[in-house]
Amino acid sequence: MDKKVLMLIEKLEKEHSLSLSDYKYLIENLTDEVIALLAEKAVAARKKIYKNCVYIRGLIEISNICKNDCYYCGIRRSNTDCNRYRLTADEILSCCKTGYGLGFRTFVLQGGEDKYFSDDIMCDIISKIKENYPDCAVTLSLGERSKESYQRLYDAGADRYLLRHETADNKHYGFLHPDEMSFENRMDCLKNLKEIGYQVGCGFMVGSPAQRPEHLAKDLKFIEEFKPDMCGIGPFVPHRTTKFADEKTGSAELTCAMLSIIRLISPNILLPSTTALGTILPDGRERGILAGANVVMPNLSPESVRKKYELYNNKAYDGAEAAEQKEELARRMKAIGYEVVTDRGDIKKGQ
Ligand code: 5AD
Repeated sequence: MDKKVLMLIEKLEKEHSLSLSDYKYLIENLTDEVIALLAEKAVAARKKIYKNCVYIRGLIEISNICKNDCYYCGIRRSNTDCNRYRLTADEILSCCKTGYGLGFRTFVLQGGEDKYFSDDIMCDIISKIKENYPDCAVTLSLGERSKESYQRLYDAGADRYLLRHETADNKHYGFLHPDEMSFENRMDCLKNLKEIGYQVGCGFMVGSPAQRPEHLAKDLKFIEEFKPDMCGIGPFVPHRTTKFADEKTGSAELTCAMLSIIRLISPNILLPSTTALGTILPDGRERGILAGANVVMPNLSPESVRKKYELYNNKAYDGAEAAEQKEELARRMKAIGYEVVTDRGDIKKGQ
């Protein structure tokens, strides 16, 4: 193995930090052997803090209506071929009820930037969930909102917020998004969420169009400095209606290597093995866990809408009932030596 790579991995393991150029060097020199070593070290780091526990989050996709037009995304507003839907408050609460009975103690309300879900409406939903299930965490993933709005949702009881930064390079951000969206605003939102007191998640796609090693190096440096509590990363998967329809799918190996590196940067981070990884490989979810991830987010949305939340081609959607899905997941995790637990699964700090 390249001596410098070995030295960098050891440094990362001890100091949880590398220079931007060292991250780039590491990314440019990822052989199978290096990826395996990163995974081994990442799993060891994760086990010290989280043992063999896998946290589950009940994902409820509340709306696929979106005011944004991100060039890569299947639910972008200009996609006329998308069958739009929006869940009612009662439907959302009923998903939580099913989920609670199955042992979910975190509900993730995720959706496009749908103006219908105003602060008043969201606060009402959040407070009802917290009232019915005081032992559960509520995670929101509803895109960019004002600081005042984030504050109101937090005051209503939301605990966590996921907002992927998508890429930490301003120019690359501009390549993936229309001019009306701004990198600065994205970063300000993340900063605001943290200031308010949310557990915050950022994240990016691996292998997105025009992405180069220096972009990924910047993503890693950003994660090192921003210190998110969670980080969602998955391979880019083209969507047939977008201008990136003919671009290549991101690599599962590179995605797993990124998961391992992020685990070494931040041993206690909550790191999901994402649906996108599960979509491009039949055992993608397991591969993510074996690379250092410790969270899985099964879909609790009503079966009738699951297919409609199509961010990318062939998004893995499980037609199975939530109960069956959870059992299958627990079985698969057990088969690789991990245990799905009934727990809010907050980040363990001070370890
Ligand atoms: N491939 C992979 N991930 C995608 N997302 C959106 N479109 C795609 C795609 N084509 C991701 C983005 C977004 C999250 C909800 O899904 O990173 O933040």
